[in-house]
Amino acid sequence: MEKKEPCYVLNDCVLDGRAIAEKVRCLGEEIAERYRGERLIIVGILKGAIVFLSDLIRAIGRDVDVRLDFLAVSSYGTSTDSSGVVKIVKDLETNIEGEHVLIVEDIVDTGLTLSYLRQLLLSREPKTLEICTLLDKPERRKTPVVIEYVGFAIPDVFVVGYGLDCGGRWRHLPSVCSVRVEQE
Ligand code: IMP
Ligand code: MG
Repeated sequence: MEKKEPCYVLNDCVLDGRAIAEKVRCLGEEIAERYRGERLIIVGILKGAIVFLSDLIRAIGRDVDVRLDFLAVSSYGTSTDSSGVVKIVKDLETNIEGEHVLIVEDIVDTGLTLSYLRQLLLSREPKTLEICTLLDKPERRKTPVVIEYVGFAIPDVFVVGYGLDCGGRWRHLPSVCSVRVEQE
């Protein structure tokens, strides 16, 4: 028999656009302070990080020599649960050896994706490697990851919007909202 996809419904906002914009401004200032006068390769994790990344880089300002690159990963699993098995779908175009590198991610959940990516990028011998995530769900962690910059720690709820999706939906929302499963 064909497996039926659960029906997800959008709930109320947990973070509105204003709160996000204020946090992004603070993170941008902190990152600008840390890397002032240096060249910094910012690595966005596609696709979820794109909305956060595009606001964050503009909050860093002109005192950091920012360069952009992207990694696309796919982790096998359902719409709301990742399996932790990470596959690189698109690799970096930049040689990061000897460079300052900052990974920008939308959310850290189990930590499996980022601990894999941290090891992968460290093996390429950057000068420094740090991580910035908009959201963190510490309760869900299966493996410890050091995250230097966290926007918001949130409880164990599945969220969408501001780049985050559920089965490809709702990335375009300007705020972060939770979703629930509707039983049929
Ligand atoms: P981790 O490997 O379990 O830390 O999962 C990280 C990835 O799972 C994120 O980059 C997201 O793509 C996805 N993810 C985890 N939690 C959520 C959520 O609440 N909403 C949308 N995507 C999520
Ligand atoms: Mg993601």
